[in-house]
Amino acid sequence: MSTSRGNILLGVSGSIAVYKSLLLTRLLIKKGYEVKVVMTSAAKDFVTPLSFATLSKNQVFSDISSDQEWNNHVDLGLWADVLLIVPATANTIAKMAHGIVDNMLLACYTSAKCPVLFAPAMDRDMWLHPSNQANIKTLKSYGNHMIAPTNGELASGLEGVGRVAEPEDCLLFIEDFLCKKQDLLHKTVVITAGPTFEAIDPVRFIGNKSTGKMGIAIAEECISRGATVHLVLGPSHVPISDDRIQVLRVTSAQEMYDRVHTYTSADIFIMAAAVADYKPKHYSEEKIKKGQGKMSEIELERTLDIAKSIGDTKSDQQILVGFALETKNELANAKSKLERKNFDLIVLNSLNDKGAGFKHDTNKVTIIRKDNKSTAYELKSKSDVAKDIIQEIIDYQEQL
Ligand code: CTP
Repeated sequence: MSTSRGNILLGVSGSIAVYKSLLLTRLLIKKGYEVKVVMTSAAKDFVTPLSFATLSKNQVFSDISSDQEWNNHVDLGLWADVLLIVPATANTIAKMAHGIVDNMLLACYTSAKCPVLFAPAMDRDMWLHPSNQANIKTLKSYGNHMIAPTNGELASGLEGVGRVAEPEDCLLFIEDFLCKKQDLLHKTVVITAGPTFEAIDPVRFIGNKSTGKMGIAIAEECISRGATVHLVLGPSHVPISDDRIQVLRVTSAQEMYDRVHTYTSADIFIMAAAVADYKPKHYSEEKIKKGQGKMSEIELERTLDIAKSIGDTKSDQQILVGFALETKNELANAKSKLERKNFDLIVLNSLNDKGAGFKHDTNKVTIIRKDNKSTAYELKSKSDVAKDIIQEIIDYQEQL
């Protein structure tokens, strides 16, 4: 009986970073995976197939055919639970993006039915070149997963992004990927994120310091668990790495309200946006000129409460999650918001906690449920906080 934790087909293309794939093969074998390696001929210029064969304890494939036999790339593609391409050069990435099949690795890629993970390795300017960026985008749109390159010293001597992820980090990514439950499969999630800007005149607005990072991290977590994600995003400059997230960009609270209300049949609503509570009652078509004295004539009125409007109309099966950013009486304020807006859960963050709230890459939250259970979490990266929030939602939903 096989005791393997899974079959990994490791595709290796030609880069100085090939030596890291040797270390990765060793780490994967140690973890109990079965590894078979496919090399491009350029990869063999850096490391011999014998090294990979010795570490993987399997024959290494390189050519589609030899004098004696035809190597069945379809069988290899079907054998793999994951196709892992490390390092993935700009050339291999370009061919993957455009369906070019001129070697065994690309034949495996185009026949594989399993998830594909690729770790780019190239020089800074190659990485930044629009053609390469477009190819990466295409691969992501095929559902392939990128193990992002890191910033640092490159083989050329330049500094920048392009270093292939370290073997230990590739292993963490793979393990996380394989362990991740697709527990939001067939669920539709609507997430609001970022600030809203309420226009005063053509050049001025009322806004706030929200960056959208927390909501974007939640969207990324939901997509990785198999959900269909509609991210209704106010003005934010944070890049969104996963093309499968449907991003609906809005500016004002009214636009955010309208967008959210096109998805009222969603299964889960997560209201992470810092929606402006007030907007100017009258928009001035002309830029308002300064006068001599004080400015006191901008009359404000309330914006629509998006979260409350969903809370008032949702069914018992639909989950609504709100956020509360507080500066005092944190727990009491959050609980009263939970009741007032009919939230199932509320995520409380306090501006008194160091590293929490807007602008930071970290957050420290307490999650309070409708049934009054609450859990206080440590300060964590926003992506780890997103994992906690989604896990709480799933646990809560199981009890419904
Ligand atoms: N929210 C919303 N629409 C609004 C205002 C808030 O959807 N117009 C949502 C936020 O996204 C958040 C929750 O409601 O999930 C709480 O928002 P917050 O502004 O903190 O609470 P308020 O109810 O506005 O209370 P206060 O301003 O008194 O803190």
